[in-house]
Amino acid sequence: MYDSQLHNTISNRLRNLDIDFGDTDNMFYTRFVANATAIQFLYNEIYQHHPAGEQLFDALIDTIAKAYTQRPATLKERDEEKEKKGNWYLSNEITGMSLYVDRFCGGLKQLTGKLDYFKKLGVNFLHLMPVMESPEGESDGGYAVSDFRKVDKRFGTLEELKKLQQQMSTQNMYLMLDIVLNHTSHKHEWAVKAAKGEKKYQDYFYMYNDRDMPDQYDRTMPDIFPESAPGNFTYVNECNQWVMTVFHHYQWDLNYTNPQVFIEMLDTIFFFANLGVDVLRIDAPAFIWKQLGTTCQNLPQAHTILRLIKQCVQVAAPGMALLGEAIVAPKEIMKYFGTGLYVAKECDFAYNATHMALQWDALATGDTRVMLAAQHEILQKPFGTSWITYTRCHDDIGLGYDDYMIEYAGYNAYEHRKFLQEYYSGVHPMSTAIGALFSVNPKTQDARISGSLASMCGLERAISNNDEGAVESSIKKILLMQAHSFFIGGIPMIFYGDEVGYTNDYSYLNDAGKSYDNRWMHRPVIDWAKNARADEEGTIEHKVFSGTQKLIALRRQMEVVSDYKNLTWLQPHNIHVAGYLRTYNEKKLYCLYNFSGKEAFLTWFAFKQHGKITARLYDHWKEQYYTVGFDHEYFILEPYGFYLLEPVE
Ligand code: GLC
Repeated sequence: MYDSQLHNTISNRLRNLDIDFGDTDNMFYTRFVANATAIQFLYNEIYQHHPAGEQLFDALIDTIAKAYTQRPATLKERDEEKEKKGNWYLSNEITGMSLYVDRFCGGLKQLTGKLDYFKKLGVNFLHLMPVMESPEGESDGGYAVSDFRKVDKRFGTLEELKKLQQQMSTQNMYLMLDIVLNHTSHKHEWAVKAAKGEKKYQDYFYMYNDRDMPDQYDRTMPDIFPESAPGNFTYVNECNQWVMTVFHHYQWDLNYTNPQVFIEMLDTIFFFANLGVDVLRIDAPAFIWKQLGTTCQNLPQAHTILRLIKQCVQVAAPGMALLGEAIVAPKEIMKYFGTGLYVAKECDFAYNATHMALQWDALATGDTRVMLAAQHEILQKPFGTSWITYTRCHDDIGLGYDDYMIEYAGYNAYEHRKFLQEYYSGVHPMSTAIGALFSVNPKTQDARISGSLASMCGLERAISNNDEGAVESSIKKILLMQAHSFFIGGIPMIFYGDEVGYTNDYSYLNDAGKSYDNRWMHRPVIDWAKNARADEEGTIEHKVFSGTQKLIALRRQMEVVSDYKNLTWLQPHNIHVAGYLRTYNEKKLYCLYNFSGKEAFLTWFAFKQHGKITARLYDHWKEQYYTVGFDHEYFILEPYGFYLLEPVE
């Protein structure tokens, strides 16, 4: 939309900044004016009435322009390459791994030496858990950042991070880092100054002299960590004030009603962009806007801020995609891709947290009906956006899907969740899992689940019982879970250690900085002697590693599993079997998964229902052909087996 006044402002500010954009930067200018109206509109929606709003809009334009001028030439080239490819991140060729640098291999320098390991596995995208400075013992795994621009010495230096990025880039790998947008550590310079009474910085947070406002907020704000951090405010002795701390007492919530905070954080986002980040993981975006009388989650203004960030990033760093880490109800997750005029113009990615939890549901019950009942919502994801798909991550598993999905399958929602909690904490008599309940809410009995992929699939118990059969069965479950998330569309994100079957690690109990948070049980310290057993045939590590490796390699060969809104669920002819059809151009792939411990029979009609079928199917997983039978005959699936079937002549 042409807006002469606004476009003049932009041209004049660029001139004032005395930036020589040269001849090659027409695209930058084009992007700027193309997005300017949206940027101004979104900004005004939030900050129009703020006393400093107008003046800071100029600062916003300058922040974007400076970010672009400071963007290294190599990254500008990479931006161009990505833009040429179109939606580069929808590709089937990207597979990720999420890891703690220190627990994985010691530090950033050592990580550079591990690039061959990723190559061997097939991983070409790394999510490094937060590496910026964060106080030891009060770090929430790095999500309490005391300096957004300084790498914590535990991991190494900024120079080493840059070197790693360069090496990854030359090997065509992608990098993801976190921006913790919602809060800072209480040791961050802004928080320290606020605690000392500096008004400017007190306005960066939500600070109150007495309990009046905190009590009002607490009435409607749920507790995120009810056991370890109840309430949403913390008393700061130094200045005799209460500060909002939605997560832990040492994580102070930033106040985005202040445009200065927005601009500072946008500038930090550009700092990350100019380090060469390909995907920026925006931590906890659901929480960034607070309003009295609400849960202070998923508010419309949080979306406005994310949209504003997206339009600004598109101008100065168009090659960086945004992932919104919104682990919320299915309907709410979808909104992070943008709605209305902003469809596919907010976050490029979200975590498919709903599906992740549903896979765990199906594995415990052997029944896929709840999973199916949720798909109509999951499938609403707009074209041009994608999922991060996963079975495990560093966080707990929340059973956050809707009650009606459970009821649709004929279960009582309360009893069903109770069963899942008992199953995965290992107390249910039928359970083979070993995990633990996380953040039990004494009022609602709501709880999330901690535990590693392998332990929750039964491997820990099978090993301690010395039960060969159970070991094999748990490996099948691990690969079933991974395969299901690998082929459903989106970038699979493996959690480090899961590629060789790490079971729970209980050493966190001896560390006072971690013992209050049982999520550490599934955040292993890598023992490279164990990982080396991935090369020895017959070992558990080899079975899990080579299976995972094969899944990644298969995925990379099949464009049909790219995320082009090209997935159809098969009708539920057998409640134990989840099946979806992926199609692209002339190609088809039937992906079938048996979530039960018994053989499952699927009528051949289930295939034919989706159009004409060839006489044979080739299973890429087992490397085997099947002749398509009559409707009264069955395709038989092994217990916990899965099949990647391509129609062939
Ligand atoms: C995100 C992180 C989680 C952290 C929280 C607070 O949800 O994934 O680990 O505790 O944000 O920063």
